[in-house]
Amino acid sequence: MSSHTFSFSYLCVLTIFTFFQYSLSAENQTNIQCIGYERTALLEFKNDLVDGANRLVSWNSSNEDCCKWYGITCNNQTGQVSEMHLPGPDDMANFDTPEASIQRFRGTLNPSLQNLSSLSIIDLSYNNFSSNSIPSWIASLKSLVSLNLAFCELSGLVPAGLMNMGSLATLDLNNNQLTGIETAGNSSTENICNLVEINLSWNKFDKKSLLEVLTSLFECESSKLESLSFASSGLSGSIPESLGNLSSLQTLELGNNLLSGPIPDSIGRLSSLLSMNLPDNSISGPLPDSLGRLSSLEELDLSNNEINGSLPRSIGQLTKLTTLNIEHNLLTGVVTEDHFANLTSLVTLRAEANMLTLEVSTDNWEPPFQLTILSLNRWNIGPKFPFWLQNQKNIFILYLASTGISDNIPDWFWDTFSSLRYLNISDNNFSSVSVNDFFCSETDAEQKQVIYMNLGNTNLSGVLPDCWTNWEFLNILNFQNNNLSGKIPKTLANLSSLESLDMHNNKLSGQLPENLMNSKSLQIVDLSENEFTGGLPIPSGENASILKLLSLRLNKLTGKIPNEICRLDSIQILDLADNNLSGIMPNCFNNFSAMTGKVDKDQIVDLASNEFMGSAWLQTKGRINGYSSILGLLTFLDISGNNLSGLIPSEITQLVELRMLNLSSNRLTGNIPEKIGNMAILESLDLSSNQLDGTIPSTMSSLSFLNWLNVSYNNLTGRIPSSTQLQSFQDSSFIGNKLCGPPLNLTCRAVGVSDGGEKGNGGSDGPDWGLIASILIGFVVGFWVIVAPLISSKLWRTKYFEILYKVWCKFCDLKKKKSSFT
Ligand SMILES: *[C@@H]1O[C@H](CO)[C@@H](O)[C@H](O)[C@H]1NC(C)=O
Ligand SMILES: *[C@@H]1O[C@H](CO)[C@@H](O)[C@H](O)[C@H]1NC(C)=O
Ligand SMILES: *[C@@H]1O[C@H](CO)[C@@H](O)[C@H](O)[C@H]1NC(C)=O
Ligand SMILES: *[C@@H]1O[C@H](CO)[C@@H](O)[C@H](O)[C@H]1NC(C)=O
Ligand SMILES: *[C@@H]1O[C@H](CO)[C@@H](O)[C@H](O)[C@H]1NC(C)=O
Ligand SMILES: *[C@@H]1O[C@H](CO)[C@@H](O)[C@H](O)[C@H]1NC(C)=O
Ligand SMILES: *[C@@H]1O[C@H](CO)[C@@H](O)[C@H](O)[C@H]1NC(C)=O
Ligand SMILES: *[C@@H]1O[C@H](CO)[C@@H](O)[C@H](O)[C@H]1NC(C)=O
Ligand SMILES: *[C@@H]1O[C@H](CO)[C@@H](O)[C@H](O)[C@H]1NC(C)=O
Ligand SMILES: *[C@@H]1O[C@H](CO)[C@@H](O)[C@H](O)[C@H]1NC(C)=O
Ligand SMILES: *[C@@H]1O[C@H](CO)[C@@H](O)[C@H](O)[C@H]1NC(C)=O
Ligand SMILES: *[C@@H]1O[C@H](CO)[C@@H](O)[C@H](O)[C@H]1NC(C)=O
Repeated sequence: MSSHTFSFSYLCVLTIFTFFQYSLSAENQTNIQCIGYERTALLEFKNDLVDGANRLVSWNSSNEDCCKWYGITCNNQTGQVSEMHLPGPDDMANFDTPEASIQRFRGTLNPSLQNLSSLSIIDLSYNNFSSNSIPSWIASLKSLVSLNLAFCELSGLVPAGLMNMGSLATLDLNNNQLTGIETAGNSSTENICNLVEINLSWNKFDKKSLLEVLTSLFECESSKLESLSFASSGLSGSIPESLGNLSSLQTLELGNNLLSGPIPDSIGRLSSLLSMNLPDNSISGPLPDSLGRLSSLEELDLSNNEINGSLPRSIGQLTKLTTLNIEHNLLTGVVTEDHFANLTSLVTLRAEANMLTLEVSTDNWEPPFQLTILSLNRWNIGPKFPFWLQNQKNIFILYLASTGISDNIPDWFWDTFSSLRYLNISDNNFSSVSVNDFFCSETDAEQKQVIYMNLGNTNLSGVLPDCWTNWEFLNILNFQNNNLSGKIPKTLANLSSLESLDMHNNKLSGQLPENLMNSKSLQIVDLSENEFTGGLPIPSGENASILKLLSLRLNKLTGKIPNEICRLDSIQILDLADNNLSGIMPNCFNNFSAMTGKVDKDQIVDLASNEFMGSAWLQTKGRINGYSSILGLLTFLDISGNNLSGLIPSEITQLVELRMLNLSSNRLTGNIPEKIGNMAILESLDLSSNQLDGTIPSTMSSLSFLNWLNVSYNNLTGRIPSSTQLQSFQDSSFIGNKLCGPPLNLTCRAVGVSDGGEKGNGGSDGPDWGLIASILIGFVVGFWVIVAPLISSKLWRTKYFEILYKVWCKFCDLKKKKSSFT
């Protein structure tokens, strides 16, 4: 078979030859030089960039092969530049640092890039072209397939041509200040149908309607679009029916816009859809049944909308669904096990804050899923503790607050939920639960992993057991509004990770834990409305305290407020009201640096928006609910309802970041500190029911944010200073004193200059009087400046006193007129 042999050896030769040729050409390719005019174009492009960190050092004429330049890739056949990867630093944690800033290119994009006819990928993301718009010439880059200008601080409109390029598949313009898409006029827009990915999230489309912005996209006969991201861009309008035409769509991100109206039924046509994220809009109406046809869907987020009606049963067919988030909507009706029938992949189920009722018909329903996150707060689930949870052994977030459960906590609880990290079962009835068994059962004495535990409002009673060494990861513990008694267990007070402890409104008694103010972790402590006795613990001062909120209101604490309390220099809210504290007020409150503005505002914890921390505390304080707009940065000092005596220390007026001060119902004496007007952002001031005397300092009229004032039932005298604020309060803010002038009906006696102004703070009762006061001050100052040198000359003396007498009389006339008005 010689022909066979021949053909075989021929094949061998051929193979060797092609291999040889291949390796030759490969070597040739590595030496390929870039094309001269492309190099020139790149250098020109570099010229217009401000390159503070000299990242483009390799881009120079002595380094001829531009294919080896930083960020440049060439086509290995033609030597033409095909890719440009020049992203700036994208580390979000250090985004605004000067180091990152200098790494970013600034300047403008030179149109010389148009000469790179093979350029298919441009990535200039995370650079800073602030106040520039996207140049329209980019649309003439005929080979461009992918353009990434995310995080570039670009403004203006997206050029129409860019959306309609034919070649362009991926357009990423997220996180800019773009305000819209240029209208194409009467030119054809069919090429928009070639786009595969658009990301315009985090721009500023200022209420433009989604349909208007993307009409031509939705009209595509066969769209190739796989990913549409328009989150947080200020889009309004409804979700168009024609969205269903985007048959290749896999990712839909339209969260955090102003979208309204229902989800169209056509959504069911998006059979490739993997993820649909529409949270934080005003989407309303019922969910379409067609949702059940999204057979590829893995992630569905419709949270924080106004969706009503019932949860369609078809949702149970989404076998691939791993994440379902429908929390904070207006869904009603009954959910049964059918709704979960085929949700075999489900891992995260967030559905809290709807009006749904869970009814499982069989007593041994075993859900087809294994959840890690389950949040059904405010559903109607009880009265029995849901038994079907027994097989959910992977759960690490379990939220069943306010679900009408009135039951024992099952004994399999810690067996099943050994991975639990976050537990909120507050607002239920667990009056039959033994706190000892639940927290300290001998049988499962192993370490708990729990970080957050909320058992507030659950009718728990009994003495808290002392076994908290098993809970070493506990960060946030909330037992508010229960009937727990006994002392605070030592092991609880010593927990090294505990940051927030809320025992508000229980029956706890005994002395406060000694180390309460020395913890290296505690930031929030609310022990208000209990029966604690004894003195305030004394901070040792070894470490700077990080306590931010301390409320011991309504207990039976006695003794002095120790000066050492001023070591709590991070304190934002200090509430010692309604105890039996006595002695004088410490005069070192000006050490509270969060209240004196000595710390960065950033370090002041936004207590209100912190789900786990202060919001519960703030909600319980009904009387400050009117302040929701500023709750976040609340600073608050309340020592009212004690037995404190002595003067109000003037240091308190250095708390210029304080918003609320309450010293009422003590036995404080002396004057209101003169510099109270320095507390510029004070919104609420209560000094009532003390024994303060003297006048109301005139500086108080500069407290322009004051919207609550009470100085009633003291011994104050004189005229109430005038300001738009002070005169707007009711009589009741001032009664029980010897005050006069508006807003009180009582006219001040008109007695010359010294009226109501024993300390020279010029009482006044209207805007005119402020003017007069300043005239008067000018008068007095001018008087002595001029008069002193004149005393020697008798002639000049008489002359001047004549003039001065005339001025004085004008003043007297004014004053008479004013008195007759009031
Ligand atoms: C590269 O290839 C060209 C022709 O394609 C050839 O003339 C040249 O000699 C090759 N250079 C090297 C270094 O192999
Ligand atoms: C040009 O680029 C090369 C390669 O990065 C570099 O070594 C050289 O210092 C550069 N020359 C100039 C003048 O910047
Ligand atoms: C040439 O480029 C193509 C596509 O960029 C790549 O797949 C191929 O491996 C490259 N060839 C060589 C020899 O580098
Ligand atoms: C971008 O540059 C502008 C001024 O040119 C500057 O104000 C801004 O902070 C810069 N942004 C970033 C993220 O570096
Ligand atoms: C493109 O290249 C041509 C010739 O190579 C040159 O005349 C022209 O100025 C270049 N255009 C730009 C925008 O650099
Ligand atoms: C667009 O329409 C106007 C008149 O409506 C016409 O004058 C113009 O030529 C058209 N432009 C194109 C590109 O068709
Ligand atoms: C679009 O950009 C946003 C913001 O950076 C990002 O979170 C999102 O994942 C992007 N979308 C896609 C589909 O890549
Ligand atoms: C797109 O959707 C709309 C509404 O669903 C429909 O009227 C239109 O015919 C569709 N267009 C195409 C090209 O399929
Ligand atoms: C849903 O809300 C709309 C108004 O937004 C109302 O007309 C409709 O009756 C509601 N449907 C249900 C089932 O409550
Ligand atoms: C669940 O899936 C099975 C098998 O795919 C199917 O027979 C059944 O009808 C599905 N049930 C529901 C409620 O969709
Ligand atoms: C008010 O002051 C008068 C004397 O100035 C004093 O006799 C009286 O006891 C004071 N009242 C209160 C409540 O302190
Ligand atoms: C003020 O006094 C007058 C007359 O004494 C009385 O008619 C009026 O009701 C009083 N106003 C207030 C607010 O007390």
